Amino acid sequence: MKHTSLSVLLFVLLFPATSAFAQTNLGIAQYTETGELRYPTNLAEWIQSGASLGSEYGEEPFDPQNPGAIGVVQMEPNAYRYFMENKTYADGTMFLLSFYRAEGKSEPQLPGFVQGARFSQEIHVLDKGRFGDGHGFFMFPDRNATSTRIPEEGNVCTACHIEHGDFDGTFIQFYPDLRAHLGRDE
Ligand code: HEC
Repeated sequence: MKHTSLSVLLFVLLFPATSAFAQTNLGIAQYTETGELRYPTNLAEWIQSGASLGSEYGEEPFDPQNPGAIGVVQMEPNAYRYFMENKTYADGTMFLLSFYRAEGKSEPQLPGFVQGARFSQEIHVLDKGRFGDGHGFFMFPDRNATSTRIPEEGNVCTACHIEHGDFDGTFIQFYPDLRAHLGRDE
């Protein structure tokens, strides 16, 4: 008994940072038996991280009269807390990108645009244990209950995110609070 508690004490003293190495999966993403991602039920509680205007992946040049979509990025709250504590993403971290029509006819009339109808959502799950390349991209165009992962082979989502996203395949350079937390704010 005494011996056991001494070893535990020694272990804790010798390896104070053990928990940082033994990172477990957040376990927040829910999958079907066939590996489809279930549409999260608590999206309203996710932390707002970024917003963009006219950021659909189209070839058309940006038109200020008709700017297209307002994109809103949110981060799952447990993943956000882990990131704030550790300055890195836990396995199982989830991000949501929702597209809203940029609506110019608000009442009372504002000179700019507000969020109109939502027309599509996308989820990025970072999980080195689950996905070969560490990234799962899922589309939820119409509040679908489940979504099949976009296949790894020739995946344009992962290709652009890995090449241009500043932090672990995410576009943290466009998320003000997150980038500031890493000391990357200009
Ligand atoms: C040509 C580059 C490019 C491609 C291809 C791309 N994205 Fe993105 N993605 C971005 C940019 C830039 C952002 C930053 C947010 C914004 O501007 O809307 C982003 C942000 C996201 C986010 C928010 C979290 C994060 O990782 O930063 C999700 C979720 C997302 N994209 C899903 C997808 C999915 C699903 C696909 C494939 C169908 C995809 N993306 C393809 C450029 C790309």
